[in-house]
Amino acid sequence: MDIYKVIVLPNPVLRQKANAVTRVDDAVRAQMKKMVETMYAHEGVGLAANQVAMLNRIIVIDTARREHDTPNPIAMANPEIVWKSEETWDYKEGCLSIPQMYADVVRPKFIKVRYVDEKNQLQEMDAGGLAATCIQHEVDHLDGILFIDHLSRLKRDTLLKKYEKLQKEAGEIL
Ligand code: NI
Repeated sequence: MDIYKVIVLPNPVLRQKANAVTRVDDAVRAQMKKMVETMYAHEGVGLAANQVAMLNRIIVIDTARREHDTPNPIAMANPEIVWKSEETWDYKEGCLSIPQMYADVVRPKFIKVRYVDEKNQLQEMDAGGLAATCIQHEVDHLDGILFIDHLSRLKRDTLLKKYEKLQKEAGEIL
């Protein structure tokens, strides 16, 4: 299967803002499909274009596969969170671009997201729990924001130190 290479921190593309998609055409559909395959290959529940070094506003998610073992990939172009609940919850998040690092992140528990689907149609979707967390995490990526940015400075610094140590060790092994 043809998949993208997933870039990891500190690659600066992860800190860039992605550009709006003008129209979902065949090229964009092909990118969405390849992003879904890339996400599955890495056992992820979501992936944003920045993570495969592309700077257009596209995300893919599939939380059903993790939660119910039934694949249900959803691709979104220009996703925009138009409503967030005041109720929050926390979930232990990870990110394919910050391998092996996990931390509890507090986010709104329910959201409404507006996006353009693979048929170039405008859609709205309500999401809660893991799906809500996942969509917020991926939309953040399109703005150059990572889950570690939602942590306290102390927690973020501790996590980054651990990450740099692991990356260094991995580099020495290679
Ligand atoms: Ni991520």
